[in-house]
Amino acid sequence: MSSSTIEINTKSDGALSQEDWSEHWSTDKQQSPAQRFFSFYRKAVFARTVCYFFDRYFPDRGVFVEAGSGTSETSFRISKNSGGRVLVATDIVHAVLKHCHPIMDDRVCGDIFNLPYADDSVDGIWNVGVMEHFTQNQIDRIMGEFYRVLKPGHRLILLIPGKDSVPQKMLRVVEKIVNARREVKNFRFHPPEISQISSMKQARELLNRNNFDCLHIDYGWRSLMAFKTLVGVKN
Ligand SMILES: C[S@@+](CC[C@H](N)C(=O)[O-])C[C@H]1O[C@@H](n2cnc3c(N)ncnc32)[C@H](O)[C@@H]1O
Repeated sequence: MSSSTIEINTKSDGALSQEDWSEHWSTDKQQSPAQRFFSFYRKAVFARTVCYFFDRYFPDRGVFVEAGSGTSETSFRISKNSGGRVLVATDIVHAVLKHCHPIMDDRVCGDIFNLPYADDSVDGIWNVGVMEHFTQNQIDRIMGEFYRVLKPGHRLILLIPGKDSVPQKMLRVVEKIVNARREVKNFRFHPPEISQISSMKQARELLNRNNFDCLHIDYGWRSLMAFKTLVGVKN
């Protein structure tokens, strides 16, 4: 596994730290029935969504980076075109990369605020359920980094939950029920999602203000209403 020096401190401006994410990926947590169910759901539903958009918007050949990959479970259906597509998992948590799906050709421990890739070197970037964990200011910094490493005219695909996401709303109801029990404190299925997408217009603006032309925004149909899918091209 490749490694790079990591220096982040996202905590100060409102998002999670590297320690929080390590805790999220700890074996204890991931063995819980809820997390096992999410793992199944990622493979059964979101992997199909990723495969669809990947095939439709990314070229047949090149190097593609999943930025904030976790275990890359949602990538396992991607067609690699007999080795034409090289898939690189990138995450801040070193330990999770050891459990990365074998479809990924390389695993790089790195920070999405400071990606360990050269300018204009990557053929496509994507992620699933990552951007919503950051503040607007941080999202713009991350988008700046995606812009830097993508080749001109190349694309990015971001799956971000909408505020109207039906599955998310159902999870919030279950969390409320669990938290109503006095012995439970602040139970959540996922780390806080502080920047969900509030409208199609907002999704388009997110791309445009970061110098990406908007190619497509999927309302959520392809992920059973869990995610909006944003497709942008580096202009
Ligand atoms: C909610 S998880 C989503 C992971 C995966 N896409 C999935 O669907 O299971 C967000 C991921 O972003 C990673 N992450 C958070 N901050 C990061 C950073 N600064 N640089 C790289 N990865 C980061 C976390 O470790 C975590 O794996």
